[in-house]
Amino acid sequence: MAVLPIIVAPDPRLKVVSEPVSVVDDGIRALLDDMLASMYDAVGIGLAAIQVGVNKRIVVIDVVNDKGEQGNPVFLINPEIVWTSDDDRVHEEGCLSLPEHYAEVVRPDEVRVTYLDRDGEAQELHAAGILSTCIQHELDHLEGILFVDHISSMRRNMILRKLKKLKRQNEPVR
Ligand code: NI
Repeated sequence: MAVLPIIVAPDPRLKVVSEPVSVVDDGIRALLDDMLASMYDAVGIGLAAIQVGVNKRIVVIDVVNDKGEQGNPVFLINPEIVWTSDDDRVHEEGCLSLPEHYAEVVRPDEVRVTYLDRDGEAQELHAAGILSTCIQHELDHLEGILFVDHISSMRRNMILRKLKKLKRQNEPVR
């Protein structure tokens, strides 16, 4: 397993629409393991493949339980939301590609999602609460959408400007 570098916004790669996976093979399973290791290393609860520069419709999620523990990862390949509840939920979201920035986002409270698991088997999952929010956030990444695209453009531009400045400061001096 390898810890992969996570792309930080603003970056054109984060705007790419990811491609479906045609076959779930050992290469895909190795990528899932690397993504999970990278997500844990960065102390996150969800990661989309495009965040490590891989243009495939793949997501790993491991939300903390009520004891604040992780260890129950979900692997979603070619996920699709097939139903959303009318009720909404507000959550203060963060993103490994927007480090240190958070904002409240309104999304449907519950979703039903179909996907392939790491064995390539078709699955369906009904999610509520934080898991539902996380699934919707990660599936947005597959469409090139970040959580800041759900907030005011003023706030979004402020966050992206700060991240851009930080990137410039961290660039090696040549
Ligand atoms: Ni994210």
